[in-house]
Amino acid sequence: MPSRPHPISDEDTAFWKDIRGQFYLRDDTTYLQGGTVGPSARPTIEHTIDLLRGLEEDPLHLGTDGLLGPALDETRKKLADFVNAPPEQIALVLNTTMASNIPAQGLTWERGTEILMSDQEYPAIKNLWQFVADRDGLTIRWVSLPVPPEKPEDLVEAYEGGITNKTSVVIFSHVYFTTGLATPIKALTELAHSHGAIAFIDGAHAVGMMPLDLKDVGCDFYISSTHKWLLAPKGTGFLYLDAKYQDRMRPVVIGHNIWPTGHASRYDVAGTRDVTHFAGLGKAIDFQNEIGWDTKIRPYCLGLSKYLKEQALERIRGSRLTIPLDPSMSGFITSFTIEGINLGKVCQILWEDYKIEVTANSANDTQFFRVSTHFYDSYDDVDRFIDSVNEVIKTREEVRKDS
Ligand SMILES: Cc1ncc(COP(=O)(O)O)c(C=O)c1O
Repeated sequence: MPSRPHPISDEDTAFWKDIRGQFYLRDDTTYLQGGTVGPSARPTIEHTIDLLRGLEEDPLHLGTDGLLGPALDETRKKLADFVNAPPEQIALVLNTTMASNIPAQGLTWERGTEILMSDQEYPAIKNLWQFVADRDGLTIRWVSLPVPPEKPEDLVEAYEGGITNKTSVVIFSHVYFTTGLATPIKALTELAHSHGAIAFIDGAHAVGMMPLDLKDVGCDFYISSTHKWLLAPKGTGFLYLDAKYQDRMRPVVIGHNIWPTGHASRYDVAGTRDVTHFAGLGKAIDFQNEIGWDTKIRPYCLGLSKYLKEQALERIRGSRLTIPLDPSMSGFITSFTIEGINLGKVCQILWEDYKIEVTANSANDTQFFRVSTHFYDSYDDVDRFIDSVNEVIKTREEVRKDS
């Protein structure tokens, strides 16, 4: 029996408990860190290991030209269907970091042009563009994002304020890694295009969390790591590119891919490599599709996040949300601050003493919890997190900022 009334039926609770049993996650651990790296389900890992074993039995015949070559094509197709894009516009790469380098380092930039991005982009993305800007004589202009904004238009306005007639790339996240804020990517893409700039979207946190229709969005580039919310094996990600860039970029690593092919696979990881984990990515997509990503997973996760927001506000003294309640601006990440409390220290105690994995981030001089809840988490897990935070604040003097 749940300790508190939960807004789902006993039958649904049992359904999700059964799904949780299909992960390797330990029973004594509450995993609220899927935003950093997601756990892969057993069918995904078992499929990957079976292929790996097969590969080692006959490396030459089962390698990239054998069984695993078609598996790569199949995965590209499944991923393309999942994000509604043509497969020939999807490059399979190791992660968002690698994906971001392909256009940033592969295109030629005119000296003096401007790159516009927010102060909440991921540090590796900021570093990359700073590196390119220093090398090629570009200027980076920064947009400061409100924490939290009141409405999606606030974000479009903030970006619009930073655009000049020299802006050549507008960079924004689909879901911010800081607070979990979800952005109006189509409106931001249209804004960039109306000023003749490239729309470059960091979707590291969005694939598997937000509905995504890349044909409809119409952006130039979309990058993601599928080892986060899509729960694929680690070291899998993709770059989506508009068809006009198909052959315009220099691959970052040159090998057989030196010649234009009219296909984004030119930008895949180059050379001989183990592709079994990409076959695992295909299986991870099947796993979520079989449960029902839009019919079951997303509604369940939105419910969990709504409950967490409500419980945090109701039961934790001094708490304040750093993400809007409006579901058009949030997904499966919940973030909130607690007045006077060092949340980094609370996270450390939660892991060491309670086996709860959660993290704290900051933006605009505010520190907040970033809580990632996915479909392997339960309403009981949310209660356990809230109860434990309250207990730590009550019993551990050292988490008070004035202690
Ligand atoms: C918004 C965002 N962009 C990019 C990255 C980099 O992802 P990866 O380390 O998988 O390359 C992350 C990782 O957490 C992220 O949160």
